Amino acid sequence: MRRGVFITFEGGEGAGKTTQIRRLAGRLRAEGHEVVETREPGGSPGGEAIRHVLLSGAAEKFGLAMEAILFAAARTDHIEQVIEPALSRGALVLCDRFVDSSRVYQGITGDLDEEFMGVLEQVTVGEMMPDLTIILDIDPEEGLRRATERRGGGTVDRFEKEDLAVHRLRRQAFLDIAEREPERCIVISAHPPAEEVAEAVEEAVRALIAKEPTRGKTAEKEDV
Ligand code: TYD
Repeated sequence: MRRGVFITFEGGEGAGKTTQIRRLAGRLRAEGHEVVETREPGGSPGGEAIRHVLLSGAAEKFGLAMEAILFAAARTDHIEQVIEPALSRGALVLCDRFVDSSRVYQGITGDLDEEFMGVLEQVTVGEMMPDLTIILDIDPEEGLRRATERRGGGTVDRFEKEDLAVHRLRRQAFLDIAEREPERCIVISAHPPAEEVAEAVEEAVRALIAKEPTRGKTAEKEDV
């Protein structure tokens, strides 16, 4: 069976990743693709257990390295339990955040040693890099405003609560990754109305699928 397609969505807070993933998944399913929508930290029972520890801030007092390792542990479980099996059966996997978030949040703005982060990435992700990474780019001020609106009266999470200056560094760090890895990453502005962003996202995904049209189609359509 042909391997599926692995697409990740990255960007700052309030960029609208979740909305875009939901729309795209609906479109692709209507065309007969098997689509798996998932997220990090989380996505698998083990990953979701760790998500709670991380986003509540319970691990913050143990230090940034501890948090980075927990993100990596959650990712390992997620890859083993969800991503790899889905790709093996030919599905399209749409993942809300993945390793670039670790590179940015822990590596760049967490100021963790590059070598430490590199080794951690190698042992957790290895060859399982996304086929496409869509970076939804947003001015952090606008992103945080949207995130606050979405949250209503709820409390900010461990990473959202940081200073605007930190969010600005993160935005730049995502753009730097895209510049370094243009064959994997595409930057799409999240400022226009959601419908317009959705069109740009769909165009990028269709371009990838068109390269290998059988990938991401369910099993009975091929190799049987
Ligand atoms: P989530 O509620 O999923 O936020 P968002 O809607 O912004 O994606 O929270 C995930 C938070 O965890 C987010 O602030 C980014 C952070 N994060 C990291 O710091 N490192 C990582 O490796 C991942 C996957 C997420």
